[in-house]
This record gives sequence, structure tokens and C-alpha cells, in this order.
Amino acid sequence: MTLDAWDDDEAAALYDLVYEHYDDDLSLYEEFARRGETPALELGAGTGRVALHLARAGLDVVALDSSPWMLRRLEAALDDATRRRVRTVEADMRNFDLRETFDLMFCALDTFELLLTADDQLSALRCVARHLSRGGVFVAELRSLTAIDWSDEPAALQLEWVRQDPQGGGTLAKMSSIAVSRAAQLMTSTLIFDRTDAGGVVRRRTLEVTLRATGRFELELLLARAGLRIESLYGGTDLSPFTDASDTMVVVARLEGA
Ligand SMILES: C[S@@+](CC[C@H](N)C(=O)[O-])C[C@H]1O[C@@H](n2cnc3c(N)ncnc32)[C@H](O)[C@@H]1O
Repeated sequence: MTLDAWDDDEAAALYDLVYEHYDDDLSLYEEFARRGETPALELGAGTGRVALHLARAGLDVVALDSSPWMLRRLEAALDDATRRRVRTVEADMRNFDLRETFDLMFCALDTFELLLTADDQLSALRCVARHLSRGGVFVAELRSLTAIDWSDEPAALQLEWVRQDPQGGGTLAKMSSIAVSRAAQLMTSTLIFDRTDAGGVVRRRTLEVTLRATGRFELELLLARAGLRIESLYGGTDLSPFTDASDTMVVVARLEGA
């Protein structure tokens, strides 16, 4: 099941390896967080790629995630300066009650697409609406529907990279393949990590991540059902216009009537 993909320490460490150099969206969330007066709330904060950036920039953040293994890595990365800025919360974004409101809530990368049914998406958005302050914004980045490759040819396994294994003397290779279900709007990536030790012995770890593609108008209707409205839609984390050529969409939503 997708939501368990990062649910042990090895998987959480692999997540960090895959995304260690990804920083395209950090200034976007920092900019929004600077406008708020409350801490920001990140849904699906994982190992803290964004949350740690905010804390290092002097901003307070609540990092909510359902995986204790991801949150444990985040906590291990805190130092004296960032510890007082980050609060971790182990909770499901579909059902949480923090009894406070936030000027910024956000869901980075494709995290919102880990919610695989309309019911799950709606439950999460209703939680967002309950926790958003009157003037607050919810920001989420999703893949653009038109940029997704929906071809359902049997997917070949692609070798993405081979590098020195940070855990030992051998190598670590990442491979992946993708399977799609167009009718269900689902795409499953199978991620294969092969660790080859100095003696040539290979140990394989396989993770599956399923995302539900969601179009802008579907998202708009879901937000409306949760009491939220789209204020702006962008075609990337640089806040460029959303066009036919956009790979992702960044949605900025507010409470209805706010
Ligand atoms: C792709 S990672 C993104 C981590 C981080 N936001 C980033 O941008 O690097 C997705 C995270 O969402 C978490 N997650 C998935 N489903 C969740 C849910 N229903 N409630 C809370 N967290 C969830 C996973 O545990 C994982 O840490």
C-alpha cells in the first residue's frame, strides 16, 4: 500500500538519498511562510526536506507526517538552532485535529497525490479548511495532468543512477519502472535499490509509490466541497503561468469568502 512506502528506517534513508539535491521549491515555501504570523504547517513533511529549510531560515514549522520513521530522521537532523523552530506531529493528513490555525499550510512535491481516492482527498482538504486561519493560504504542488505519460506499454526497468553506497564500501543503484491505470488515474512507480557490497553480494530493496493524478478542475471542485477556493494557479514553483507546457501546477487556495 502506497502510504506505507516510506515506512521503515531504510526506506526513509533511501528517500533522503533520492531527494538530497532537490531544492526547486524551497524558496516558494519560504516566501509564503515569511508572510504568515503563525508557524507553517506542512502536510506529509517526511524527513524535513522543506521543514528543515524553513527552520534554518528562522521560520517556525509544524511537520506532520504519518510515518514515524520519516519523522525520526527529521528529528535526528535538528540542531540547537532548529530544534526550537520545528514541532513534529505523527498524524494522518486525512484526519487530524491540532486545535490551532495556521497562516500557511502546504503539501510539497506530489504528496497530495498520495491520497488515492476522492474521499481521502476530501478528508484531507476538510482538515486543511478546519486548520486554516481566516487570512491563511493552502499551497500544494501536483503534477500537471497533461504532462503525465499515460502510455500503458509494459514499462521497461530504467537504471537511474549508480553511486557509492553511503552505508558501506559498495555501490547503490536505483532503478525504476512505471505502470499506469488510466481509468483510475493512478500511476505506480516501482523503485528498486540494489546494494552491492565489496564482495559482489547484491541486496535488493523494492518500494512502490502510487500517485493519483488530479486535474485542475477536479481539484477546484474538491477544494470547493471542502470550503476552499483557488486564489491562484501557477505552472511551477517559480510561480510562472500555468500553460499547456507546465509540468506541475502549484495551487494557492483560501477559505471560501476570506
Ligand atoms: C514524497 S514524501 C514528501 C516529503 C516532503 N514533503 C518533501 O517534500 O520532501 C511524502 C510523505 O507523505 C507522507 N504521507 C503519505 N500519506 C500520508 C498521510 N495520509 N498523512 C500524513 N502523511 C502522509 C509519507 O509518509 C511521506 O513522508
